[in-house]
Amino acid sequence: MRPIRKAVFPVAGMGTRFLPATKAMPKEMLQVVDKPLIQYAVEEAIAAGITDLIFITGRNKRTIEDHFDSSPELEADLACKGKTELLAMVRNILPAHVNCLYIRQSAPLGLGHAVLTAAPAVGNEPFAVLLADDLIDAETPVLKQLIDTAYAQDASVVGVQDVPRQEVSRYGIVATRPLSNRTARITHIIEKPSPEEAPSTLAVVGRYVLEAEIFDHLRATLFGTGNEIQLTDGIASMLSQRTVLAHRYEGQRYDCGSKAGMFQATVALGRKYHGLIPEPDTGG
Ligand code: G1P
Repeated sequence: MRPIRKAVFPVAGMGTRFLPATKAMPKEMLQVVDKPLIQYAVEEAIAAGITDLIFITGRNKRTIEDHFDSSPELEADLACKGKTELLAMVRNILPAHVNCLYIRQSAPLGLGHAVLTAAPAVGNEPFAVLLADDLIDAETPVLKQLIDTAYAQDASVVGVQDVPRQEVSRYGIVATRPLSNRTARITHIIEKPSPEEAPSTLAVVGRYVLEAEIFDHLRATLFGTGNEIQLTDGIASMLSQRTVLAHRYEGQRYDCGSKAGMFQATVALGRKYHGLIPEPDTGG
């Protein structure tokens, strides 16, 4: 497989679940402890060797571009006040070898459409997709786990985890044939099935490594669940021609597309990395 250098970040969503917080601010800029959600995803991608970040943006998303751009006034102010640590932190949000590209998604037509919007920037090479809503705390960045699997098996790979059956209708769900301990070949994938029709309880989380063939399949994909062009349907179409693997990643995922997940992530990361909350007293 050719080197995986590019990552697509679909960030055009409205974030209505977090209103009023997201009335004037992108949901990807909501913070967990001291960083916006999108920065966690970007850091994961960079740690996995990605050098080209492609953001699929929409209206009201300018602060994402500002966040990853230099900030001359702020930097001058910090330098002037001798705040060297803060200055270095601000300057290192994006390492010098990493490039950003922003493409506007003309209309919110779904995740598959957002990924297809990236086609001219991705070209004919394998690439990653990261959904910032899924914050995954892992020793080895989850995207790196997926990329290693993609190289080893020469195939597309999606990250999966088991979920309770009553929650399957929130996810893309896969049926698989096992290959190794953590990796299986996807035989069937369906977007947001009911608990009765779900072929398993193995859910796709927001991490994908895809071969460029996906674009042809997305172009041919019709509007699906929720009247949107679903990435899941594009992957389903690709299954007849290409191998797509499901990889059970190692790590703790927080569903930061929900208030409960945001809250859990804030408590867990605040405790683990920032010493903000004492460990619970277990008594005895
Ligand atoms: C999207 C995908 C779904 C996937 C989920 C993971 O759904 O369409 O297949 O399981 O992300 O978070 P969304 O959460 O955008 O509705």
